[in-house]
Amino acid sequence: MRIVLIGFMGSGKTSTGKALAEKMGFEFADLDRVIESETQSTIAELFKDQGEQTFRKLEYDTLNRLLKKDSLVLSTGGGTACFFNAMETINKNSVSVYLKMSADSLFNRLVNERSKRPLIKDLGEKELRHFISELLFIREPYYNKAHYKVKAKEIQIGALVDFLRQENQQLV
Ligand code: ADP
Ligand code: S3P
Repeated sequence: MRIVLIGFMGSGKTSTGKALAEKMGFEFADLDRVIESETQSTIAELFKDQGEQTFRKLEYDTLNRLLKKDSLVLSTGGGTACFFNAMETINKNSVSVYLKMSADSLFNRLVNERSKRPLIKDLGEKELRHFISELLFIREPYYNKAHYKVKAKEIQIGALVDFLRQENQQLV
């Protein structure tokens, strides 16, 4: 079995995923890092050289491949859940958790972490605030399909592991 973390950029998918995997004794994978290592390009380069559409296809293909691995915690990118029928695929093949955060909290986390994220790297502060609110509104219906939702700002890894194990016997 596997756990897939979804949510907006900056919601903590990577940090939480690593901690969750360690606590559960599962392997950890971050979808963006797998893509970067397999293509030998950064996400920013892929967006720039091949365009977002090609990146989304690659992202979806890589997701499908990783969803065959067992005992895995997978952190997705902020857009992974929202293209093709990714949420259906994720939910069929994993226990999915949405790390939920408000637009204001996401802004506070992302304002100093724009450079590596191609969708926001050129935005000023006011534009970033607007961009987050608009995109979160569009993406939440996809994120809300996750099996479980967690308040990302208050996350406690031990409690999350206990909860997920209680709910899903196959994760024990
Ligand atoms: P994502 O993978 O969803 O884009 P990251 O794990 O890269 O998010 O986290 C984004 C930023 O928020 C990083 O600077 C990270 O250190 C910080 N962060 C992540 N989780 C927490 C947390 N629980 N409390 C405080 N800061 C956090
Ligand atoms: C994206 C989020 C990024 C990365 C790419 C696109 C998005 O991942 O996949 O920059 O569409 O929200 P993080 O959520 O890990 O920043």
